[in-house]
Amino acid sequence: MNCSNPCQQGVTRGKVFLVCVLGAICFYAVLRVQMQKPISLQAFLEAAKEYIPCRFSQSFYSSQQVEVTNVNMTVTERVDAEEKGEEARVDELTALLVQRLESIPDGNVSTARETCLRNNSATPCQPVVPCKRPLETRSPRERVRELITSSQYQPSVDQLATVLSLTEHIPENEVIVASSCSSNHFNELQAMFKNLHRTVFPKLNNFTMVLYDLGLTPQQRKVTEATCNCTVVTFPFKKFSAHVSDLGCYAWKPIVMRASIARARKLLVYQDSSIRWNTTFQRTWDRAMMYGQQAVLVHGVSFPGNTLKQMFDYMNEEVCPFRVFEELQGGIQMISNDSLVTQAVLHPWLKCALEKTCMCPDTQQQIAFCFSNNLHRCHRFDQSAFNLIMAKLYGVDRDKWVIPPDHHSVSISRKDRDAKYLYVLKYGEEGYKNLTIEHSGE
Ligand SMILES: *[C@@H]1O[C@H](CO)[C@@H](O)[C@H](O)[C@H]1NC(C)=O
Ligand SMILES: *[C@@H]1O[C@H](CO)[C@@H](O)[C@H](O)[C@H]1NC(C)=O
Ligand SMILES: *[C@@H]1O[C@H](CO)[C@@H](O)[C@H](O)[C@H]1NC(C)=O
Ligand SMILES: *[C@@H]1O[C@H](CO)[C@@H](O)[C@H](O)[C@H]1NC(C)=O
Ligand SMILES: *[C@@H]1O[C@H](CO)[C@@H](O)[C@H](O)[C@H]1NC(C)=O
Ligand SMILES: *[C@@H]1O[C@H](CO)[C@@H](O)[C@H](O)[C@H]1NC(C)=O
Ligand SMILES: *[C@@H]1O[C@H](CO)[C@@H](O)[C@H](O)[C@H]1NC(C)=O
Ligand SMILES: *[C@@H]1O[C@H](CO)[C@@H](O)[C@H](O)[C@H]1NC(C)=O
Repeated sequence: MNCSNPCQQGVTRGKVFLVCVLGAICFYAVLRVQMQKPISLQAFLEAAKEYIPCRFSQSFYSSQQVEVTNVNMTVTERVDAEEKGEEARVDELTALLVQRLESIPDGNVSTARETCLRNNSATPCQPVVPCKRPLETRSPRERVRELITSSQYQPSVDQLATVLSLTEHIPENEVIVASSCSSNHFNELQAMFKNLHRTVFPKLNNFTMVLYDLGLTPQQRKVTEATCNCTVVTFPFKKFSAHVSDLGCYAWKPIVMRASIARARKLLVYQDSSIRWNTTFQRTWDRAMMYGQQAVLVHGVSFPGNTLKQMFDYMNEEVCPFRVFEELQGGIQMISNDSLVTQAVLHPWLKCALEKTCMCPDTQQQIAFCFSNNLHRCHRFDQSAFNLIMAKLYGVDRDKWVIPPDHHSVSISRKDRDAKYLYVLKYGEEGYKNLTIEHSGE
């Protein structure tokens, strides 16, 4: 009997199991008759190993095969199984969260000590009146459960499949470094590659760099592909709803992150083109691999100051308990290939990006500018959503996942631009001078 063939032909695991059990009973009976005495389990197994040519390959037990089994379960059985599966996932991820909350030594219990003098202020502060639903009253399990079981926060199977198709041609590697760029940030991108080529790539071994093209000019694309030591992927805007094509909604950012981490055996580093690494970067990347992720904090502004009320509504939160939190950067992420971070951070973030009412309820240009000192004075789209989700998951301990100040590993330099770095790599100084460059790179 050959077990793998019937499986491939679509016979259920249950049937194969039944056949194998019946076979084992017959085999036992034959053996019992032959040996003329009771047989110990050990002796039976040893005999079985020699005589039974039926070996279950590991893939036989893989999750794809389990799905085949589910096809003919009754509806109640299936719902039961799914609920059990969901409970098991909540258990597993809660345990991981609790273990990290207990084991991460540094990072301060959140930040603001000032009390809110104005109810409408963008400054990080403790509310004067206690919040109706304070963060610290929610258990780790409640937080995990909400984020990983609600369709409000989890992409559908089809949505996830569409997102993952972005990286179907990217090979797996230990580390994936990813970035994305439109034509107006090309000079920042060139300076970013200079930093990567000089500081980061020489120290890495098994890594792949992926650049998502959000609308480079043909000339920019050509010179980048020739020199970047990276794979360039055209972002498939047509596969997504209309708001994703509006670059100012930043919905593309959680999409490319979720797609990229599927290729990272150990770590995804996502960076906007303004990110510059210091020689000490590996300390921080190691920390991300140890604790699941690392984020960069901006001091002085509470993220509800820079987040529209509509996003809080989508996330089923009142603003009050979030006013203590300073803002985390969205455009620099170090994320290990980790089930907690993927399911409880990246998936809710992706889901929000795919829902216009969550990520960009208001697309008027001025909503991006943060002038006043009032709550909800502006909106930071992907960054706003990231902040909400980080606080929902980690609660008042959120800053345990912030890079410690003594790491000096990363900076954000929107002014660091280079109009010719990649062109010179391709054409040389002389050749660069001969080129007519389209002056579109900011
Ligand atoms: C499920 O049941 C139907 C009808 O009973 C049968 O035709 C089909 O082959 C079964 N599917 C599997 C995967 O066993
Ligand atoms: C924690 O707070 C102390 C005192 O405010 C500060 O010196 C230290 O740098 C903070 N640590 C982190 C990781 O933010
Ligand atoms: C702030 O809000 C609280 C609760 O809603 C209210 O009691 C208080 O009067 C408000 N303070 C100011 C200065 O508006
Ligand atoms: C790109 O990769 C090649 C092969 O690994 C290497 O020789 C070259 O120096 C790299 N170029 C840059 C600019 O890092
Ligand atoms: C790179 O990957 C290969 C194959 O997986 C492995 O043998 C090698 O040790 C890795 N190198 C480093 C420096 O991690
Ligand atoms: C990421 O981790 C999951 C489970 O932890 C694993 O199944 C998957 O293969 C990993 N991805 C890569 C690219 O190694
Ligand atoms: C790099 O590290 C040095 C020393 O730790 C520090 O002075 C410098 O500001 C850092 N640069 C960046 C870009 O973070
Ligand atoms: C640049 O242009 C000059 C004059 O047209 C030509 O002599 C030179 O070969 C060109 N250099 C390159 C690298 O194309």
